[in-house]
This record gives sequence, structure tokens and C-alpha cells, in this order.
Amino acid sequence: MTARIIGTGRAVPAEIITNDDLAKVVETNDEWISTRTGIRQRRVAKEETTAGLAAEAARKALEQACMAPEDIQLVIVATCSSDYFFPNTACLVAEELGIRHAAGFDLSAACTGFLYALNTAQAYMAAGMYKNALIIGVETISKLIDWKDRSTCVLFGDGAGAAVLETGDRGFLDMVQHSDGEKADVLTCRTRAMNNLLVSGDPSLDYIKMEGQEVFKFAVKKVPECIEELLEKTGTAREDIKYFILHQANSRIISSVAKRLKMEEEKFPMNVNLYGNTSAASIPILLDEMNRDGRLQRGDKIILSGFGAGLTWGAALLEW
Ligand code: COA
Repeated sequence: MTARIIGTGRAVPAEIITNDDLAKVVETNDEWISTRTGIRQRRVAKEETTAGLAAEAARKALEQACMAPEDIQLVIVATCSSDYFFPNTACLVAEELGIRHAAGFDLSAACTGFLYALNTAQAYMAAGMYKNALIIGVETISKLIDWKDRSTCVLFGDGAGAAVLETGDRGFLDMVQHSDGEKADVLTCRTRAMNNLLVSGDPSLDYIKMEGQEVFKFAVKKVPECIEELLEKTGTAREDIKYFILHQANSRIISSVAKRLKMEEEKFPMNVNLYGNTSAASIPILLDEMNRDGRLQRGDKIILSGFGAGLTWGAALLEW
């Protein structure tokens, strides 16, 4: 038994912030941002919450799957920007949608989060523990950004993407996933400092800090490596893959991965121009766009690949 995606959905905040808008708050310009990253605009939450965006994306995925909320058995939310330390986002989404009695937890693997959620759901379902699952990648990462730091504030955006999985005889084929804490410090966002009876730490929250070039080097090396590993593990020819759906961090990273794999760039769809890097949400947002506009057809073989803080990375091979 394997997990098959039977419905997808996405939700993004209403407000669009363009590169020109950002140029009014930090010393930057559209040319710098778009040539280095491919990003032209991003969505930024105003009224929207992490749980609210997640629930909206999930509702659409459930509708498409023709799945009643009360039938869902497992909810996994990948996020690093939840509304609360607790309760977890999965419980808030379940409450909002009328999902009762499902197991629900959040998972933290930064921009690789959706991929980890997919792999985790697959493992539960292959073990026979659950017949279906709702998995969501969601971020309101704009609240973790120092809007005075031009090296990071131009890169990210908010949004959510969801998928409903059901057990079947085809769908999820295989995956590889990795992590390496040795380079943990190249992309970080601290939580609160320790502040208790014994120590009095600075209660102010910290923001995303990144060594951009280190992250870039990591991504362009590890993503093609893990895709090759997955192809070899499954005995799949790269020509048989219709699309490589990569985490949308930066168009230059995606182009470079295509080049290293010696594949034409058309097989690497992108929407980073519209949303920026939405972290755990980027893969399911793109997947939903492609599912709804007819680019994905039953039987297509696709590879999803994520990479991000941790460092974490991985890839999954699916038959649509
Ligand atoms: N606008 C204008 N100038 C900027 C800028 C901005 N938004 N951000 C940085 N700069 C400046 C720097 O201050 C630096 O100026 P200096 O030469 O006077 O010191 C110059 O541009 C070059 O900075 P650098 O950091 O070397 O640029 P880069 O070519 O490495 O590009 C990134 C920066 C972030 C676009 C690039 O490193 C990258 O894409 N990294 C991967 C990031 C990523 O995807 N992270 C998430 C992964 S999940």
C-alpha cells in the first residue's frame, strides 16, 4: 500500500508586496532582486494567520478529493511560523474544518517541511496505521523577518499549500531525505532566549539570519545529488520524469540544479516570481497550481525536492 495524492489546495494572503514597494523601505531595487533571485513580488499576511491559511488550503484540497473532513485520520502540518508554541497548527486546522478524532501534529524541517510531512504520512500509511492523511505546508514567515535587513527581507513570502493522501496501489514510489546540523548556523531564526528564575535573558525575539552564499552552495550541490540518489535507488531514468518540482527559493538555484542534472529547464516549473520563498508552503503551492491547470496527468512521474535550514534536504518520486 502506498499514499496517493487525491486532492490539492493553496491559499495566499491578499496583500501583494512588489520589489518596488520594498525599495521604499530598504536600499534595494527590482533589478537587484529579480536578477539574483527571480522574485518580483510576494504575499504578506495582514489579517491572515498561519492556521487560517492552512485551513483554507486544506479545505480546497478536501473538496477536490471529495473527502469529508470527519473521515480524515491524520493531519501533519509543516511550518516554522506557527501562531502558537502550542496548541499545534494541526489541531487548529482540524477544529476549523471539523476534522474530529484525527491524530495531528506539526513538523519542523524549514523549507524541506512539506517533503518531510509527505514522507512521514507515507510511512504511517504504508505501515497500515492510517488510510488517509491531510498534509499541509504553511508559513507566515513575514513575522520572522527583520524588515530592515535587505539581504533577507526581499526573499520570503507567506502562503499555504495542502494535499489529501489516500492509500492505493500506486502514487508514492520512494524517497530520500537527509539532514546535517554541521552547517546549522548558516540559516537560523532563534526562539525566545532562556528567561526563568535562574537566568534573565533578553526577551526580545530574534529574526532570520542567513549566510546567503553558503545556502546557495549547499542547495546547488545537495539537490542534484539527492535527485540522482533517488533515481538510482528506484532504477528510474531521468528522462522518464515529467517534472522536477523543487522548493521555490530562487530561480538561479533551480536553473543551476537543472543544468547539473543535464535536464532542460522546462521540466523545472517555477512560480518564485509571484510568491518569493514561502518555505514549507512552496512545493504544495506549485503542486496545486500544476494540478489545477492540467500540467499533471495521471500516470506522470514527478520528483519533488526540498532543501532548507537544518540543513535539511530530500526528494520524493511520485506517480501522479
Ligand atoms: N538589494 C541590493 N543589494 C543587496 C541586497 C538587496 N536586497 N542584499 C544584499 N545586497 C548587497 C550586499 O550588501 C553586497 O554588497 P557589497 O558588495 O557592497 O557588500 C552585494 O549586494 C552582494 O551581496 P551578496 O550577499 O554577496 O549577494 P549574492 O550574489 O550572494 O546574492 C542572495 C545574495 C541571497 C540572493 C544569494 O546568496 C542567494 O540566493 N542565496 C540563497 C538564499 C536562499 O535561497 N535561502 C533560502 C534557502 S531555503
